[in-house]
Amino acid sequence: MKAVQVQGNSLVWADTERPALGPGQVRIAVHATAVNRADLVQRQGGYPPPPGASPILGLECAGEVIEVDEHVQRVRPGDRVCALLAGGGYAEEVVVAAGQVLNIPKGLSFIEAASIPEVFATAYLNLYMEGGLKTGERVLLHAGASGVGTAAIQLCKNTHNPTFVTVSGQRKIEACVALGADVGHDRAAGSFIAAVQAWAGSGGVQVILDPVAATYFVDNLKVLSLDGRLLLIGMMGGTIVEANLGMILMKRIKVIGSTLRARSIAAKSLIMDSLERDVWPAFASGRIKAIVEAVIPLPEAEKAHTLIAGNDSIGKVVLELRR
Ligand SMILES: NC(=O)c1ccc[n+]([C@@H]2O[C@H](COP(=O)([O-])OP(=O)(O)OC[C@H]3O[C@@H](n4cnc5c(N)ncnc54)[C@H](OP(=O)(O)O)[C@@H]3O)[C@@H](O)[C@H]2O)c1
Repeated sequence: MKAVQVQGNSLVWADTERPALGPGQVRIAVHATAVNRADLVQRQGGYPPPPGASPILGLECAGEVIEVDEHVQRVRPGDRVCALLAGGGYAEEVVVAAGQVLNIPKGLSFIEAASIPEVFATAYLNLYMEGGLKTGERVLLHAGASGVGTAAIQLCKNTHNPTFVTVSGQRKIEACVALGADVGHDRAAGSFIAAVQAWAGSGGVQVILDPVAATYFVDNLKVLSLDGRLLLIGMMGGTIVEANLGMILMKRIKVIGSTLRARSIAAKSLIMDSLERDVWPAFASGRIKAIVEAVIPLPEAEKAHTLIAGNDSIGKVVLELRR
């Protein structure tokens, strides 16, 4: 089969071995996959795949099931599915544990479905399972127009949680508000503290979903409420920080670090089952939408990475292979 391979500084569409189907696995003919920021880090050697995972890039896909292990009952050959992957999505075929595969929500295309698994699983896991978000609690979402951010805004709207986003530029603020955010702050204008405090009042925000880390850490502590939860899911602003830990103690703040990719199959299956139960109906009814900035042919993945690296995209960049 063919797959996108990292050769030096380039992404090359080239022949590689077809992956073997393991116990409990499903083989999918990939129709579309999508870019995640982690892919840009992985190609530079900074985010190696967990043990046993494919070295090929790609954390999600949508396509048609073409083979299943004899013990798999969840899906059958011919099903239109999407899947959460630990790697291997930038290829003609991928194999994945059945628990990480779901039938595509009713009415969605392969392109739309390919944009869902990684960012919705990340947002769901961190807001609800790790962050314990309750109806009505206020949420601060950094990088609100990112793939994860656009998923999180919509999930929060769906569970009646007001959201404040930080982004770059008016175009992204407007896009986030259109998706359901209450207010947006342009990070080029400086600290978000005053704007968040004006929005949230003296109570502060209960939950922060933060892929930025160091540069936002102290300001995050300042705007969190008593018993607030800070979910650290990325390090785009660095990792080293000097902070007054007294704020964590006095406000009983929980700082939670979280990655999705290295979790067990059982843990990922639980997240996927939760998405199917709690979020798939909202996709089917149109209340939640796949947010796709661009669709680029998979063999031209380099163009998609350049687009993501420019920090100008809203939602997801999808890589299409078959229609
Ligand atoms: N822990 C996990 O399991 C997990 C899973 C998935 C994703 N993530 C993380 O979640 C983040 C979003 O991923 P994604 O694929 O959805 O990203 P994306 O769509 O590529 O969007 C990332 C956005 O972050 C903003 N940004 C870039 N550098 C920044 C900086 N130094 N400070 C503040 N904002 C910055 C930019 O938007 P603006 O310029 O508009 O702010 C950029 O467009 C990444 O950090 C990724 O690693 C974590």
